[in-house]
Amino acid sequence: MCGIVGYIGKQKCIDILFDGLSRLEYRGYDSAGIAVLDGAEIGVVKAEGKLSQLKPLLSELPAGATRGIGHTRWATHGAPNTTNAHPHAHANVALVHNGIIENYLELKKQLTGEGVTFQSETDTEVALHLFVRELGRHKTPFKAIMAMIPQLKGAFSLGILVGNEPDAVYVVKQGSPLVIGAGRNENFFASDAMAIVRHTTRAHFLNDGEVGRITEQGVEIWDFSGNVVAPHFVELDISSASTEKLGFKHFMLKEIHEQPRVFSGMLKRLIDLDSGIPNDDELGLSKLDLSRIDNICMVACGTAYYSALLGKYYLEPAVQLPVNVELASEFRYRQPWLSKNTLFIAVSQSGETADTLATVKQAKEHGCQVLAVCNVKMSSIAREANVTLHMDAGPEIGVASTKAFTAMLLAHYLLSLGLGYKRKTLTISDLKKAAVLLKTLPARMDQAIDGKVAIEQLAAKYDEAANFIFMGRGTSYPIALEGALKLKEISYIHAEGYAGGELKHGPIALIDRHMPVVAIAPQDVYREKMLSNIEEVKARQGRIIAVGDQDDQHLRRLADDFIVCPHIADAGLQAMLSVVCLQLLSYYVAVKRGTDVDQPRNLAKSVTVE
Ligand code: F6R
Repeated sequence: MCGIVGYIGKQKCIDILFDGLSRLEYRGYDSAGIAVLDGAEIGVVKAEGKLSQLKPLLSELPAGATRGIGHTRWATHGAPNTTNAHPHAHANVALVHNGIIENYLELKKQLTGEGVTFQSETDTEVALHLFVRELGRHKTPFKAIMAMIPQLKGAFSLGILVGNEPDAVYVVKQGSPLVIGAGRNENFFASDAMAIVRHTTRAHFLNDGEVGRITEQGVEIWDFSGNVVAPHFVELDISSASTEKLGFKHFMLKEIHEQPRVFSGMLKRLIDLDSGIPNDDELGLSKLDLSRIDNICMVACGTAYYSALLGKYYLEPAVQLPVNVELASEFRYRQPWLSKNTLFIAVSQSGETADTLATVKQAKEHGCQVLAVCNVKMSSIAREANVTLHMDAGPEIGVASTKAFTAMLLAHYLLSLGLGYKRKTLTISDLKKAAVLLKTLPARMDQAIDGKVAIEQLAAKYDEAANFIFMGRGTSYPIALEGALKLKEISYIHAEGYAGGELKHGPIALIDRHMPVVAIAPQDVYREKMLSNIEEVKARQGRIIAVGDQDDQHLRRLADDFIVCPHIADAGLQAMLSVVCLQLLSYYVAVKRGTDVDQPRNLAKSVTVE
């Protein structure tokens, strides 16, 4: 989604800003722009489309400029074109914005009545003209910002350049994330630390309701009431190497390959594989009052939601408590039942998803204990939750989630062991059994990835299909949902995931010889039932692509095509292997279709608007 980057210092800033924007590309965008201050003059360039369209325009900017702001826009209000792209500029002020100003129509009417002419269809331009009006009235940018803020409703994180105060750039944070990076005689800011981590790892994450004035020498922060706030700088631990493709054609492929290493790291940190005893501190359990918990609620969006669906399969039998799983966007607007005894688990790779963040605040208002499962340490959800289980999967750049999804599954699985042991619903012998299998998991995952050559060949047979169905039962059911999501996201093929037993309740009407059906059929307790579901599809001439065990001859005979998935004697862990096969299938189908795998159309990595 929209990205912001800003710089003030002694270096020429155009390349710094452009590089920062390119590090935000993975978030998804459809236009981009840069504004710089040269002396007291502002120069702006903007382009529709990718950064490659903006690059040739950079020479129009004053090359020596040492302060500026940049933006990648993911269209919300108005088409993705050059006029609507940020920065918006007027009267020697330039402004970039992330979020949505909810009362923009009302403000636009008011400003139009005062004689303002608007160029774009955006809500952002309203903030610009409001600021310019208040600057005329109050003279200093700081006072103008303070006068503007109470007039805005919604989410508005802003970066502002003002020609008449060239020694500073201003930021405002409300809703969408914003981080300030401190350097020596230079300072940076961005909506995502990824954009600045190359230059500095000392960062202050602004809180909602803060205004910052950033100069070459330092940073001043105030809350929206004008009280001074002391910045709290932390050390970022994002390695900039993990944001490179390292020889892989796409980030998605690289991230699929990283999964065994991510698993090894997580296992080392989160459980003692010899004794089987989970690490309560790292899982976040030691900071929770578990004695009062009598139900669990898991909330997330998209892929993270599917991971939570699997979490229910892990947690319910292990902890013997009811586990409710919900989409954050639905949860936040109904009147959910929550109590002080609810353990509320928010799952989010980015930790910035607006709907999930809103549910965390809601749960805290109900007195729930909130545990976040997140991949970004200083993210808004991680900071808002009582305690966070950090996945530490490393930055995920491909928009379609792969390693973060499997890391979520492992986190939920280990959480179920930890909670089950604490609640005495699991014994030490249960833990030991699980640990024996967990030890083998990274190697099994490597084996699953080794199947990629065969999967690539198979993908070539199906890249022209118009539709796909994915089906699975038990722990393979959420995997079917995830498999279908992955395929539609990156190949743009329509795909649906179903529980095997549900097919005959409607979707079976879709089956004919043109319908590929991916059947996830490991050797678990559901196998016989899955075989019957496969027969039902075959009887209607559907084409079966089975994902199953190497030596499952029966399944091989039934299937038109077969994807070999390594076997592990635990249905919960098996799901983590099956999904790797589906990630590879989607990836190669998308590559064959020539789509933009890492940045699929219309999608954003971090959905910071609701
Ligand atoms: C799909 C995907 C999305 C995200 C969803 C939630 O591949 O990545 O569906 O899972 O937008 O994002 P997070 O996990 O950052 O809250």
